[in-house]
Amino acid sequence: MKKEAFHCIDVQQFDPDFLEEICDLADKIREISRTKAGTEYLASTLNHKRAMLYFVQPSTRTFLSFYSACQMLGIKCAEVRDPKTSSEIKGESEEDTVRTFSLYFDLIIMRHPRANFAEKIAHLLNDSDHPVPVINAGSGKDQHPTQALLDIYTLRRSFSHRGGIARKKIAFVGDLRRGRTARSLASLLTQYQEMKLYFVAPPEYQIGQDILSLLDRRSTAYEVTADFEKVIPEVDAIYMTRLQDEWDQEEGVHADIDIARYSFQRRHLDLFKPDGVIMHPLPRRQEIAVEVDSDPRAAYWRQVRNGMYIRVALIAGIFQRDRKILDYYLSNT
Ligand code: NCD
Repeated sequence: MKKEAFHCIDVQQFDPDFLEEICDLADKIREISRTKAGTEYLASTLNHKRAMLYFVQPSTRTFLSFYSACQMLGIKCAEVRDPKTSSEIKGESEEDTVRTFSLYFDLIIMRHPRANFAEKIAHLLNDSDHPVPVINAGSGKDQHPTQALLDIYTLRRSFSHRGGIARKKIAFVGDLRRGRTARSLASLLTQYQEMKLYFVAPPEYQIGQDILSLLDRRSTAYEVTADFEKVIPEVDAIYMTRLQDEWDQEEGVHADIDIARYSFQRRHLDLFKPDGVIMHPLPRRQEIAVEVDSDPRAAYWRQVRNGMYIRVALIAGIFQRDRKILDYYLSNT
């Protein structure tokens, strides 16, 4: 019988135990990597594996985050960033292209403009003789599961002295209709008890009904509003996002809205809780004033670092090296 690979496609596949375990593992990996011996140990754990980073949608930070995560585990990487350089120009389907490439590798990390492409490839490979794992590194306007993991990890670390993530109020601000990071994180937050989510956006960019229906099914409280300043004092964390206007052309729309109303300005710091958390998946435009960067509540640079560690933990788990790493941690730190 063929063994199906463990894919990371959609946040719906993560349960609370998995979230706890992966965050714990990321913390341990962080500690281990503080020493030269620890770094060398980590780099020896998967140095017989090779990964393909198939990133055919613009990306630098997520690409480098995965690239660094693979490097930390000793995984060798190759990249495809422009499908036009491959046989697609000769009329090959993209499914065939990725399937061909997959035969050279042990892991595929994929960013793609089509919402369900990574999932499609995962199914296709499951039915093949070489079912390598697929990680979705961002799929169209739909999902960004590893960003949601790093956001959960950041929230968990930020609220570690405030009873964890449960019972917190979290606001999402900006282009929530097309922002896959907000969609993925909002979905994942339904796993925690007594949350309240606020979706702050102009009507044109408000969060999709599919996410609101999920919150209803999971009995997660929420409020949909356009009034950012009213929400700031009420919440424990604010997740800012940029206008995703790269989709305007394809959608044939361009809403002329005052996006400044959905940005975090210096004066907002006084309205926000002293132990609140300000997040952003990056890249940012003007959604957060640069003066906010030096405030201890600004968590977005920490988010970047957390992203690398959580991705190391995810990949180690996919290749079942999590136990070994925990054993190393127990005997060496
Ligand atoms: C996000 C993305 O690509 O969805 N960026 C990221 O992965 N860090 C957010 C964005 O592009 O706005």
